Amino acid sequence: MSNTQTISEFQKLFAEKLEKEAANIENTEPKNLYEPISYTLKMGGKRLRPVMVLMANNLFGGNIEKAMPAALAIEIFHNFTLLHDDMMDNADMRRNHPSVHKKYNDNVAILSGDAMSIMAYQYLVQTESPEIQKMVQLFSKTAMEVCEGQQYDMNFEDTLSVSIDDYLNMIRLKTAVLIACSLKLGAINAGADTKDANHLYNFGINLGLAFQLQDDLLDVFADEEKFGKKIGGDITSNKKTFLLLKALELSSPAQKETLINWIEKKEFDIAEKIAVVKNLYTELGLPEISKKLMEDYYQSALEELSTIKIASEKKEIFIDLAKMIMKREH
Ligand code: IPE
Ligand code: IPE
Ligand code: MG
Ligand code: MG
Ligand code: MG
Repeated sequence: MSNTQTISEFQKLFAEKLEKEAANIENTEPKNLYEPISYTLKMGGKRLRPVMVLMANNLFGGNIEKAMPAALAIEIFHNFTLLHDDMMDNADMRRNHPSVHKKYNDNVAILSGDAMSIMAYQYLVQTESPEIQKMVQLFSKTAMEVCEGQQYDMNFEDTLSVSIDDYLNMIRLKTAVLIACSLKLGAINAGADTKDANHLYNFGINLGLAFQLQDDLLDVFADEEKFGKKIGGDITSNKKTFLLLKALELSSPAQKETLINWIEKKEFDIAEKIAVVKNLYTELGLPEISKKLMEDYYQSALEELSTIKIASEKKEIFIDLAKMIMKREH
């Protein structure tokens, strides 16, 4: 196929591929290990990361089928992180379905998640790229960074001494590096030169930071049905999001006291806490401030993209992708 594919075409091609793999997994024994995996893989999701692998591969002239191993690896790894993340975050809903630990139990979520992280490597090493070693190294480094980010995320729940820089470093690790890795894997798979692959990686980091800022915003302000996750989970568990950190910085002494009181309460009405904190965020104009920061990262992402030595028409699809991420509602 030519290089004029759209994002939705990449999504469709990947979805077909994943569908087949999930069907094979479903019938494997023991059922309690494999069925939750196909349950997860079949419940949808935006498939943004594997699409990024395919897009980057395409940008540098790679054959789409040859990028499928890396695309599958990335999506299965991402889905693995969601199984464990939902347990860690006490989240009962994912993509409008009960999360795995809720539908089955914690032990199932742990072990099916572990199996998925192994499966990710099994797919990745199926690449025929001569750069396979580089790809596995990048993937492993990224996987470890995601763990680091997730641990910071958990550590920060129990403390108020988190700076905006700490937060940005945490979201870079838990979210941005996997997005950047997806793009770089696709680039390496297609034989891109190191400089271009790194620019695309940095495009991904900036986009990934904007992506998580939007995720944090949606966690409070989204339409629950569209978002597919329960609203207010971050508020309930005292996640140190940009919103909360900025609220602590910008609030009046009285507002700050209220906020800290709610953070420190051990027993509370969940809906009430969410409503109070959400109101405060709105009063302080935090959605706008957050959007402004996202916009800065979007611009930095575009600057990185512009330095890649490829005809600009071929890069348009990456701008479309960035725009899509900026205004996503789920
Ligand atoms: C959710 O990622 C986890 C975060 C990093 C915020 P996505 O929003 O890409 O989830 P799906 O795969 O589309 O469901
Ligand atoms: C996502 O952070 C990070 C990873 C899953 C690695 P969140 O905890 O905000 O993601 P959601 O909101 O549950 O999807
Ligand atoms: Mg979560
Ligand atoms: Mg989390
Ligand atoms: Mg979230």
